[in-house]
Amino acid sequence: MLLLSHLGYHPAAVPEPILKTVNLQLAPQELGLVIGPSGSGKSTLLEILAGLVEPTSGQILWRDEPLSALHLQQLGGLVFQFPERHFCGRTILEELRLGHPELGIDRVHEALCEVGLDHLSLNNSPNTLSGGQQRRLALAVQLIRQPYLLLLDEPAAGLDWSMRCQLVNLLNKLKTQWTLLVVTHDAKELISIADRCWVLDHGCLQVAKFENQAS
Ligand SMILES: Nc1ncnc2c1ncn2[C@@H]1O[C@H](COP(=O)(O)OP(=O)(O)OP(=O)(O)O)[C@@H](O)[C@H]1O
Ligand SMILES: [Mg+2]
Repeated sequence: MLLLSHLGYHPAAVPEPILKTVNLQLAPQELGLVIGPSGSGKSTLLEILAGLVEPTSGQILWRDEPLSALHLQQLGGLVFQFPERHFCGRTILEELRLGHPELGIDRVHEALCEVGLDHLSLNNSPNTLSGGQQRRLALAVQLIRQPYLLLLDEPAAGLDWSMRCQLVNLLNKLKTQWTLLVVTHDAKELISIADRCWVLDHGCLQVAKFENQAS
């Protein structure tokens, strides 16, 4: 169980806190969805959960243990918004092994299989993939590290309707094995697969009520 307790982020340089007392609970194999308009603090929240930014107040607990930024970096896998813009491997294999050259070919195939890309040649350039396939590859890049928590920033941004549907189906499958936290300004299709849902507005997080949501 992931627990955020009174989490806040107020860098000294800004007059208003970016995040104000965020409380959130997410169980294993759940998909949590945070919906908020531009500038509400969604990416900041994910950066904190990925251990890239230190919160200025509150705690993050995993299985009742408080987590440091270093723990969070190991526990979480963050897929940035428009992840394909950050690809830097010349081939799919290189992209998957960036920073982990020791990973065996079995792990590579396993990660690609998880996202339905196992039919592609490992020597293809990531740039030759379709937009939807590139998003899948970005997910595989994180899954290969086997994080406990997959953090996704606007995963469907810029995809057309059919690719969005494929992505939603993939996330629905991934949550049978992983714990996912997704942030978006446009929750349309994602609401149908969310177990928990919150609205973030000006740094305040509130539970959003939907029919398919766990109580
Ligand atoms: N390091 C920082 N220092 C000062 N202000 C920051 C910093 N990082 C983010 N902000 C501000 O915090 C607020 C939240 O930013 P954030 O990027 O988290 O929003 P967002 O919900 O992800 O927006 P979008 O939907 O446009 O991606 C914004 O007002 C932004 O300008
Ligand atoms: Mg953002």
